[in-house]
This record gives sequence, C-alpha cells and structure tokens, in this order.
Amino acid sequence: MPTIPSGVRGATFTGWGTALGHEIVTNDDLARSMDTNDQWIRERTGIERRHVGGSTAELSIVSGRAALSMAGLDPTSIDALVLATTTPDRTVPATSATIQNSLGLRCGAFDVNAACSGFVYALVTAHGLVAMGAERVLLIGTDTLSRITDWTDRNTAVLFADGSGAAVLEHSADRGHLLGWDLDADGSAEDALYCDIGGFVQMDGKEVFRRAVRIMVDSATKSMAHAGVTADDIALIVPHQANIRIISAACDRLGVPMERAAVVIQDTGNTSSASIPLALFDAADRGRINAGDLVLMVGFGAGMTAASAIVSWGAR
Ligand code: UT7
Repeated sequence: MPTIPSGVRGATFTGWGTALGHEIVTNDDLARSMDTNDQWIRERTGIERRHVGGSTAELSIVSGRAALSMAGLDPTSIDALVLATTTPDRTVPATSATIQNSLGLRCGAFDVNAACSGFVYALVTAHGLVAMGAERVLLIGTDTLSRITDWTDRNTAVLFADGSGAAVLEHSADRGHLLGWDLDADGSAEDALYCDIGGFVQMDGKEVFRRAVRIMVDSATKSMAHAGVTADDIALIVPHQANIRIISAACDRLGVPMERAAVVIQDTGNTSSASIPLALFDAADRGRINAGDLVLMVGFGAGMTAASAIVSWGAR
C-alpha cells in the first residue's frame, strides 16, 4: 500500500455540513410492526432511533450547500464533486450529476460506491484530485438505505437508515491534513452483505460482525503505520457507525479508549457512506477536535471493503 510522497499537494477541510432523513423512527415504532423490542435493539446494536426519508440527491444537496456556505465558497469555484453512495437515485446518470446541477457547480461529478467504506474511499480520491491540481473538491457521503431495506425483516430493519455528510476539501500551501490512508477490499466475501438490483439488503449478520472487527483493526493499523503514529497519538477515532459492539471491540483491539470514539449511532442508525462524516462533523461541531489533533477514520462495508485515513485536524 502506498505511502504519501513528500512534496505532494495537500488539502484540508474548510467547511462541512450534514443532513438526516426527515422522519424519526424509534425502536418502539419498529416493535409495533415486527417481532423485536427496544431493549434488544439498544443492547445488541446501540441504536435508539434513526432518521428516514428523502432521496440521496435531496439529502446531499442540504449537506453540500451547508459545507459550501461554511467554507464561504461560490459553487462555481469547486473543481470536482465526489459523491460516495451505495444508494444512487437512478442507475444512470450518477446521482452526483443531479447534485452538481442543483448546487450550481460547474465541474466534473462522479459517484464512488464502496458501501460503508465509501466516505473514506472518496476522501482519498479527492486528495488524489488535489494532488493532480484541483484547488477545491466537494466531497459528500450519502445513503438512503431505507429504500433498499425490507421493513418486515428484523435482521436488517433495526439497523439501517438515511443520512448525508459533506465536506469541502481545499488545497493548502502546507502538506495538508492527510497523514496516512489505506483502502482494502475482499470480493470473496461479497455474499455476506449484498443487495441485488431492485431487491432488498441481504446480510449474514454474524459473519459481517466477525469480519468487521478484524478488517477495521487491520486497516487502521496500516494507516497508523504509514502515518508513523500509534494508538496513543490518536485524539479521536471515527469508526463506521454499524453496531456499538463492533465499535467497542475495534477500539479495544486498537488500544483506543471508547471515550476517544465519535459515536452517533444511537441517533442515526447505520447510514453507510454517511456514517463517518455524520460522526466526524458532530464531534467537530461539539468542539471535541482541536487544531493539530490526529483523527482516525475507519470504516468497513459490503464488498467486503475496509478503509481508513488519519488526518491532522487543520480546519478552522
Ligand atoms: O455496514 C455494515 C452492516 N452490517 C453490520 O454491521 C451487521 C453486523 N452484525 C450485527 O450487527 C449483529 O450480528 C446483528 C445486530 C445483526 C445481530 O446481533 P447478534 O448479537 O449477532 O444476534 P444473533 O443473530 O446472534 O441473534 C441473537 C438472538 C436470536 O435469538 P435466540 O436464537 O438466541 O433465541 C435471534 O433470533 O436474538 C434474536 N434476534 C432478535 N431479537 C429481537 C435477532 N434479531 C433480533 C431483533 N430483535 N431484531
């Protein structure tokens, strides 16, 4: 896996925004229509409620507009739009085309599908665009999993939801914030978690759980090695919000105390490509991240993919 060459054009976040589905669905709401209950869902997943509703483009436009506003940028100054999603609104064109038009961008736009690892895949891709000369990239992670969830299947319906997180990544004169990254995939495990076109998500929950902890720890360990840092140096870990027990087990194996984890799963459920930016920007908005802090993002998802990145927090 490559390390970041010295002298490469760097970038940092200069604005961000988030959006959630407009309808709140509680565990008790689910218990009214399927054989489950609030206590089981809380104890086995950490989820208390989730937000559903809206299309992938609609949520992305809200989060993207907020990110542009915070960065103080005219939409026409954006050089590329990268949308991480596994739930596009149409097969063709890419949902990023709809967002590009609605936000008034005048640049190339494309989707990245790496399931729940998507935001970190898109982040690394966006850094590559900056390395190639782009000045400003709008990066969005959005999923509307409620549209591909069978709401009578308690195996999946208690987990999945809708959300979006967006960031403006701007070229910076210094080396930028990205210190190390890792992107992994193991297609031999694709049947553990998949959705056929027109169908609903199918999941072997136990198998996904078993693999998730291992591949998150592997990926995070590689990123830390590339960045030349250890778990003690990490001020905040931002894991994919899939299950509080997966987050806890991964933190434990990495040697990062749970107090240093960003957790929003109780309010959001699993929003796939949106889960890492929702947790990251919630922590930032709460003042949990100081300039210079090392932040480790780490995700896993269908594919099975895994991805991690370490940034030195430099945004305003
Ligand atoms: O972005 C990646 C997406 N996917 C994941 O991250 C999923 C990873 N896997 C998981 O999070 C967990 O495996 C689940 C939350 C899906 C399931 O939790 P678990 O602790 O592995 O439960 P289990 O499948 O071992 O089931 C334990 C018990 C069973 O009952 P018995 O046989 O012990 O009587 C299940 O029938 O819990 C029962 N059960 C439920 N009960 C109430 C399973 N699902 C439910 C439910 N409500 N929703």
